[in-house]
Amino acid sequence: MNQRTIRGRSTTATDDQQRAEQKLLDEVLASFGGTPDPRLRQVMRAIVRHLHALIREVRLTEEEWQKAIEFLTAAGNITDDKRQEFVLLSDVLGATMQTIAVNNQAYRGATAATIFGPFFVEGSPQIPLGGDIARGAGGTPCWVEGTVTDTDGNPVPGARIEVWECDEDGYYDVQYGDDRSAGRAHLFTDVDGRYRFWGLKPVPYPIPHDGPVGRMLAATGRSPFRVAHLHFMVSADGLRTLVTHTFVSGDPQLAAGDSVFGVKDSLITEFVDKPAGTPTPDGRDVGDRKWAQARFDIVLAPAGV
Ligand code: BEZ
Ligand code: FE
Repeated sequence: MNQRTIRGRSTTATDDQQRAEQKLLDEVLASFGGTPDPRLRQVMRAIVRHLHALIREVRLTEEEWQKAIEFLTAAGNITDDKRQEFVLLSDVLGATMQTIAVNNQAYRGATAATIFGPFFVEGSPQIPLGGDIARGAGGTPCWVEGTVTDTDGNPVPGARIEVWECDEDGYYDVQYGDDRSAGRAHLFTDVDGRYRFWGLKPVPYPIPHDGPVGRMLAATGRSPFRVAHLHFMVSADGLRTLVTHTFVSGDPQLAAGDSVFGVKDSLITEFVDKPAGTPTPDGRDVGDRKWAQARFDIVLAPAGV
């Protein structure tokens, strides 16, 4: 006899009941036994084992299973080429970050990887060193500079750096539904592996939460907000491509938590606020606006580690 308490009421699975449940699980596992691809066989059987364990652990009701099906149906219905609700679901369940953790193990001081997110766009414009990625997006100008090196400390010249971020209202260009391109660009490191550009001081913003994932966050008392960040994707020959962010130290959202679990302490960076009138590093005139400055040095692991 196996006694459990579910929502204050105890449920009992007799030994016969447990044997019946196990027999069903064994039958389903066996049905995948002939899968020709061994990896697919392993993954399918693991899915079945964990799914049945979940159903049995919480003694899932048929109404609850129906709700789960409706949730997944709603996620499918809202998904199109611009909105991917299943990726959002993976993100808020920590599955995206766990997959990143498994596949990007720490390596000799290499910069940590974090979540890619849905707002990267292929074909961003190239800017020169010291150029501006804002390109019309509103916000506090922010000078960002750093180096790209390998794990032996050698500079990486010609590394391609893609950067993208939201505007001061918390929206990426692609969320406006017009054809604008703003808050994104790519540039290349110089012969000494250095880079520099103007962007916007990142602000915290909510992930899209007007769909089933947002309703799930609300029902569970979770915030959709992300800690303020700037996205980077850095690639160079012979080195592991790095997808990461730099996060703004002191952002109140750091204490409240990141809705997609993307923060790693090593990625938190000081963004120093500069009062209006402070000379800028490249002499740019930002008018009567305040601005900010950050340094983010990037270390790339060798390819294949
Ligand atoms: C982002 O940082 O752009 C992002 C990541 C995960 C879900 C939604 C947005
Ligand atoms: Fe983002």
